[in-house]
Amino acid sequence: MVCLGNICRSPLAEGIMKHKLREHGLDWTVDSAGTGFWHVGEPPDPRSVSTARQHGLDISRQRARQIQPADLDDYDLILAMDSSNYQDILRLANGSRQENKVEMILNYVDPGSNRNVPDPYWNDDGFDRVFHMLDEACERVIERHG
Ligand code: 4NP
Repeated sequence: MVCLGNICRSPLAEGIMKHKLREHGLDWTVDSAGTGFWHVGEPPDPRSVSTARQHGLDISRQRARQIQPADLDDYDLILAMDSSNYQDILRLANGSRQENKVEMILNYVDPGSNRNVPDPYWNDDGFDRVFHMLDEACERVIERHG
């Protein structure tokens, strides 16, 4: 799960996905990262923590990290929150096998639409909407690959 800062959107996506996988009894390895380095080592944004908590999820122990080229080797699926994350991840990819692992997460909801998960960092009201978009997308990812 990859966004820009790894403090707003992708920590929610990680928390939601891990919760759903437990519910489905699936043993996948899930992590999140940012394309940027600015927030490395920080916990998720308090607004993401509180939105997750309202939905029964504790994401407070996550810590931000920056995506590394090795992630494209280690993981089978790299889900980008928006088109700028997508382009930045593709720049790290080495060959078509790695490029083909990268997908915009909302394409699991609306195939081929290339819709962005809006960045809620500058918009206090955006977090709950982002939660619901990610909840639906994660459900679809599990339907497809579970
Ligand atoms: P995220 O949100 O990519 O969903 O974690 C952002 C977090 C921080 C910044 C931008 C977006 N920032 O500019 O510091």
